[in-house]
Amino acid sequence: MRTVHAVTDLRHAVRGWKRAGLTVGLVPTMGALHDGHLSLVRAALRGTDRVIVSIFVNPTQFDNPEDLETYPRVMEADARLLAEAGAHVLYAPTVAEMYPLGFATTISVRGVSEGLCGAHRPGHFDGVATVVCKLFLQSQADAAFFGEKDFQQVHVVRRMAADLDIPIRVEACPTRREADGLAMSSRNRRLVVPGDRDRARVLPLALGDAARAIAGGQPVGTVLAATRERLLAGGFSNVEYLELRREADLAPLARLDGQRARLLVAAWLAGVRLIDNVPVSVAGV
Ligand code: PAF
Repeated sequence: MRTVHAVTDLRHAVRGWKRAGLTVGLVPTMGALHDGHLSLVRAALRGTDRVIVSIFVNPTQFDNPEDLETYPRVMEADARLLAEAGAHVLYAPTVAEMYPLGFATTISVRGVSEGLCGAHRPGHFDGVATVVCKLFLQSQADAAFFGEKDFQQVHVVRRMAADLDIPIRVEACPTRREADGLAMSSRNRRLVVPGDRDRARVLPLALGDAARAIAGGQPVGTVLAATRERLLAGGFSNVEYLELRREADLAPLARLDGQRARLLVAAWLAGVRLIDNVPVSVAGV
């Protein structure tokens, strides 16, 4: 695996591959890699001939300076994991490479970026859409691989690529979970007190139970209220949102009415913001 820091070096590698008729996959990350990221690398290796993994802690998508400062950065360990996984290029640009002096463009996606995380993290999805657009154009990849844990992000990225006519396939891969069901996330590393880590498992448990109750016909409002209470009683300090949304366009749903739906949550435990989502399956849909 080669590590490159400059767009010109990335483009040089990609040009060679394209000349040889090879397809290119991109896995955008902010590092602190776990098996969720590595599953995206594996999907990219199955789906394309050459795989670029980007590691860039993107300052413009952080709405909280402390979150940006304390975001885990473990580049050497990440590089080792990626080499073992079989990635071909690690692209690790500096902030100055990504946002050179005078940088003045922001991409803002309306609609799917509103509500949910968008309502609680001002500017977050502008930062995501802008950096992902740049990564798409810099890498000229044929396909890009994202985790479904960030379900709203997948919608934002798909909308952005479609609206800007970027010729790339955006693939959403299933959420990877720890043995106790907690969705894998770089932020889980911050749950350092064992009691807190144990308490975190109530999130996937409560979410799964709520999805089954809604699919079984219980009223959505009642189920969501009870699930909020369960999370708060289980040690979560705040439930930012817990909502049922249509899978296709993230429209809010008050009832299932036979549609494909997702239950999405963001909640705080011991100063750590955790997000998760599960499909709510109705027989035959
Ligand atoms: O999901 C992430 O890690 C980030 O939002 C992404 C897509 C790498 C953009 O910085």
